[in-house]
Amino acid sequence: MQRYAAAVFFGGPSPEHEVSVITGLQAVAALRERNKAVLPVYVSKGGRWFTGQGLDDIARYKRPSDLEQTATEMALAPGPGRSLRLVPLKQPFFGRAEGLLVDAVLLAFHGGSGENGGVQGLCESLGVPYSGAGVMASAVGMDKVRAKVLCKAAGIPVVPWMEISEGIWAGKEEHHLDAIIDGIGFPAIVKPVHLGSSIGIARVEDREALEGAIEEAFRYDAAVLVEQCVPNLREINCSVLGTIGNARVSVLEEPVSGDGTLSFEDKYLRGAPGKTGRSKAPSAAGMASLDRRIPAPVSDEMTQDIREMALQVFDALDGSGVARIDFLMDDASGSVFFNEINTIPGSLSFYLWEPTGMPFGELVELLLDLAVERFETRSRRVRSFQTNLLDVRASGGLKGKLG
Ligand SMILES: Nc1ncnc2c1ncn2[C@@H]1O[C@H](COP(=O)(O)OP(=O)(O)O)[C@@H](O)[C@H]1O
Ligand SMILES: [Mg+2]
Repeated sequence: MQRYAAAVFFGGPSPEHEVSVITGLQAVAALRERNKAVLPVYVSKGGRWFTGQGLDDIARYKRPSDLEQTATEMALAPGPGRSLRLVPLKQPFFGRAEGLLVDAVLLAFHGGSGENGGVQGLCESLGVPYSGAGVMASAVGMDKVRAKVLCKAAGIPVVPWMEISEGIWAGKEEHHLDAIIDGIGFPAIVKPVHLGSSIGIARVEDREALEGAIEEAFRYDAAVLVEQCVPNLREINCSVLGTIGNARVSVLEEPVSGDGTLSFEDKYLRGAPGKTGRSKAPSAAGMASLDRRIPAPVSDEMTQDIREMALQVFDALDGSGVARIDFLMDDASGSVFFNEINTIPGSLSFYLWEPTGMPFGELVELLLDLAVERFETRSRRVRSFQTNLLDVRASGGLKGKLG
């Protein structure tokens, strides 16, 4: 059976599908450059899994239906040892296609079940090492409220917010509007709790606009948060790489946009491709094409403070692999607030690591090494637990304790 050191998973049912294709192909190219046997695995918008010829060519993703015709649809199964097996769904008439084996998975999804813990759980069930955050941390990372709650509990500053779910909103709109205006005031920012890419986000200045924005956000999500608007806003992001207690921080970036709020277009559709430094990644540059200042022009002291906060957030949210942590700064007061964590950041934040001397290929390889390391640590722990349990059972202790 053909065996690959790594598979890169990308695409998937998510508004950020195309961005994920870019991140995925960037990672595939970087691993190829380092002579790794790497298998690109594309998940369609409909949630079907594909491998095969043509998946490396970004031009082919303009017509996904053609791609799905020529690529091979696969099913996933546990392989021998710590490996994953991909088996073609359509078996040949004679004989049997054995499929492919993969030793570790690099997750390059953005949004949807590829980033929210769903696919992470699938990899755990299948028994294959996967890059990035675990199930819980991935789910928290996609939930703007739960991430804030955990950070707040860890003493990290967050912007005051209120959360409303669709169930409690309906029929009591006026009551909730009163409470929000009382607790948050204007201007306020309204966001769906689980989405990214600025989808459904609005800045509002009065009651009518607030109501409209909440209704609009409910079109995307069953839960909405309203938070105080940070005045004199500057956005500062920082990447963290490693595991809790053994993580490093990148340089800071300040993304720049025309009107002060980064829109979906600002993030993904604007900007010239090819600002990818030394990497020979596909020319569409994804998050790397956003206009940004690197390093962010803030004082050395502020830089240190934000880097320190980024590490605290990574620990508080049980980060693993590479994450990008986004902060909101009030430029007049110098106050900095945690805004959100991206557990699979656009382009894996490689453009924040290149200036520290780490090329993209090294970053991706490190993510795979970390994935395997975490998998092995965990499987060791589970095995020793089982041994203890059986020992207790053998001596009749468990029965005794239960009875
Ligand atoms: N509390 C806030 N005050 C001012 N601007 C905000 C605030 N929260 C978000 N924004 C603006 O909205 C943008 C999108 O919000 P964000 O929470 O980062 O959601 P997303 O997951 O879509 O990136 C931010 O990049 C920022 O420009
Ligand atoms: Mg954001």
